[in-house]
Amino acid sequence: MITINENYLKLQASYLFSDIAKRVAAFEKNNPDRDVIKLGIGDVTKGLMPASIKAFHEAVDEMANDATFKGYGPEQGYEFLREAIAVNDFKSRGADISADEVFVSDGAKCDSGNIQEIFSQDIKIAIPDPVYPVYLDTNVMAGRTGIFADGRYQGLVYLDSTRENNFVPALPEEPVDLIYLCFPNNPTGSTISKQELKTWVDYARDNKALILFDAAYEAFISDDSLPKSIFEIEGAKEVAIEFRSFSKSAGFTGTRCAYTVVPKECAAYDSKGNKHLLHALWNRRHCTKFNGVSYPVQRAAAAVYTEQGKAESKALIDYYMVNARAVCKTMDELGYSYVGGTNSPYIWVDGKTDSWEFFDMLLNKAGVVCTPGAGFGKCGNGYIRISAFNSHDKVKQAMERIKASLA
Ligand code: MLT
Repeated sequence: MITINENYLKLQASYLFSDIAKRVAAFEKNNPDRDVIKLGIGDVTKGLMPASIKAFHEAVDEMANDATFKGYGPEQGYEFLREAIAVNDFKSRGADISADEVFVSDGAKCDSGNIQEIFSQDIKIAIPDPVYPVYLDTNVMAGRTGIFADGRYQGLVYLDSTRENNFVPALPEEPVDLIYLCFPNNPTGSTISKQELKTWVDYARDNKALILFDAAYEAFISDDSLPKSIFEIEGAKEVAIEFRSFSKSAGFTGTRCAYTVVPKECAAYDSKGNKHLLHALWNRRHCTKFNGVSYPVQRAAAAVYTEQGKAESKALIDYYMVNARAVCKTMDELGYSYVGGTNSPYIWVDGKTDSWEFFDMLLNKAGVVCTPGAGFGKCGNGYIRISAFNSHDKVKQAMERIKASLA
């Protein structure tokens, strides 16, 4: 008899964003005359940048010719892209990352979900609350938690991110082995200072722990004193892995390209206490389970690092940040307190009521979709997340409708 991985039965009914999409689809079906504005899932709305499109087209043409056609590429990504990443995203900021420490992939969601496979079953995991659900669910699936009770999985160490700590969690009180951090944060939009991040790096070094740092939203940082990469912090190369994505910085949510940096110094131990390099383990996993991102997509991603690409990427980020400011202004006018929206495309609003009730109210009264904070964890209850990813016109309309509904 075929049996299942019963850890899946511990998961909450459905993935947060699928759940919301279903509710919105039902609302649209029942209210065909209502025009719904989506500020929920962080999905970009603007077309790909001209620099990427040109490179994309040229690469597609190369694929049409026997002489320039590419079959399987290197699993880790083409050298031209890995080198451009190392130089532009790290070396330019004083972080000593080399091209062969970069693993190109089809998404930071996949990488941040898959990475846990290379660690043992019995490690102690620290997960922020609220949190991007992927870190949590993939560890539940892998059997690293107990059951879900009273809003939390047993066996995990939760790092509360609340107004009291400015949405930057404090170090755990009990020892942990694997720590998930995300800054600029999804969902709260909060940022971490270099000094605060150094505290975490020092903790990891002192405790032989590892930090999984999700920097998918780094492109939205305009305050240059904030770290864009954990590798800007001294000593991080031994104790951190970083996830990055072209999804938000270059509008690649539908095109799919991201990367993970696993420094060669980063190690973990076997049950006998022998040290193993995580670079070798991740490389082994990557080569076994992944055949690389398509050549045209990698060319389109590499174009982000040309002079034209850099300028267009900045313009893209600036475009969405105009929306973020409009959302913040509306919340100020309505007297709602919030965090985020300055170095982040997300605005985390204290809705002063149950998150799902607030979500339903905004959908029904204003026809605007947000993300209920409770979907990101217990500490998210009472909050909603508003995303800046939409057109100026739609965000303007959404804010007018929210004002009319809430004022
Ligand atoms: C979000 O809305 O949190 C993100 O878009 C989800 C993702 O990037 O997978």
